Amino acid sequence: MMTEALLKNRGIRRRDFARFLAGAGGAALIEASGLPRPRPAPLPETPEFPNEAFWSNVRKQFLMPPDLAVMNAANLCPSSAPVLEALYAATRDVDQDPSFNNREKMTEGKERTRKLLAAFLGVTPEEIVITRNTSESNNLVSSGIELKPQDEVIIFSDNHPSNHLAWTEKARRFGFTVRVVDQVNPHPGDEYYIDAFTKQMNARTKVLAFTHLTSTAGDLLPARELCRIARERGILSMVDGAQSFGLMNVDLSDMQPDFYSGSAHKWPCGPKETGMLFINKRAHSMVWPSIYSAYPGATGISKSFERFGQRDEPAIIAFGEALQFQTRIGRKLIEERARTLAQMLMTELKKVDGVKLWTHPDSGRSAAVVTFFPANLDPKKLSAVLYEKDRIAGATREGADRPGLRFSPHIYNSPPEVERIVAAIKRYVATGV
Ligand SMILES: Cc1ncc(COP(=O)(O)O)c(C=O)c1O
Repeated sequence: MMTEALLKNRGIRRRDFARFLAGAGGAALIEASGLPRPRPAPLPETPEFPNEAFWSNVRKQFLMPPDLAVMNAANLCPSSAPVLEALYAATRDVDQDPSFNNREKMTEGKERTRKLLAAFLGVTPEEIVITRNTSESNNLVSSGIELKPQDEVIIFSDNHPSNHLAWTEKARRFGFTVRVVDQVNPHPGDEYYIDAFTKQMNARTKVLAFTHLTSTAGDLLPARELCRIARERGILSMVDGAQSFGLMNVDLSDMQPDFYSGSAHKWPCGPKETGMLFINKRAHSMVWPSIYSAYPGATGISKSFERFGQRDEPAIIAFGEALQFQTRIGRKLIEERARTLAQMLMTELKKVDGVKLWTHPDSGRSAAVVTFFPANLDPKKLSAVLYEKDRIAGATREGADRPGLRFSPHIYNSPPEVERIVAAIKRYVATGV
């Protein structure tokens, strides 16, 4: 392997990196990194039947004060203590000894994260590109596929700007056509979308780009089916996984997209400004790199596609730590927990007079992104008062299109927090804000 050869040439032993990782903790590190003292006890092994005591231990791995309910995973997640420690340890290591000899082991750390990503998603390291975020990943795809004026691309109206505006602007530049499938609220079911997307396909269609789980209404799209239909017609499928990566137990070997993108700083609870792009082997020859610089990845598509210049390798190493943290808890369990809390929230919100849920509670049509209009209340004002007076952090959606509040519960949230949120909303609906 290229990494191994490099390490050997420079006289650096593989065990140096293992030693470095093993020494990532320690009291001095905790003090310097500002992590809470006493340092959280390491997360115990996940019991067969995890109870609230287990989830409370999970919560203790995060820095939020106990009275603050942060339910905004769809936007930005906190990192767990092991992730922060790994980030700090690697940054400190590089800064203490910035020599090339020392920094070479960071390359090994980056490749380790690539392997962890591949295992996490059920694919091979040769198909993984480590990026800055989903926005970059999506744009690497829309800029990398060679599209001509006669070509067509199908997108979903609820795609994020990095997967909507990016296509429409590049269509203006390169002359291809974009067809848009509109979102319908409430989610009309898988069959509706399979039919709606299929109807837009024709001999000129080159790409289908949609969102696995939307950030707007929390709609879950039938990714596996849509990818299969695209594949059978020779159309490249691009799945924006910003809201499913790290929340759902995603297995790309089953979904089989050509491209799948995600951010570490959302549901995986990884460091900020790190992300990933999966490029299926069969699509490697169909996409051009957008950036040509130094320091490529060591394997597969990353050798040509990931020439991004100097990287924040400590963040990439900490990304790997975040994946391991989730794997230790259990991917299936994480999805179940987030879904359970979201279901609780939806059930209780439905009982509040005047509240309109935008998210469909059916588990086949949503996961753990919940949005709603808060009856007679101004969403922005409600959100502000919830944060200032009730110590509840969510997100707002302004404008005329499905406005309201969004809560996206994750592993550091609890049933009492859900109850607190609903009780506060009920109170404000009755009294005003
Ligand atoms: C569906 C979707 N795609 C892409 C993004 C962009 O993510 P990032 O800002 O991490 O690039 C988001 C962010 O919320 C999103 O919800």
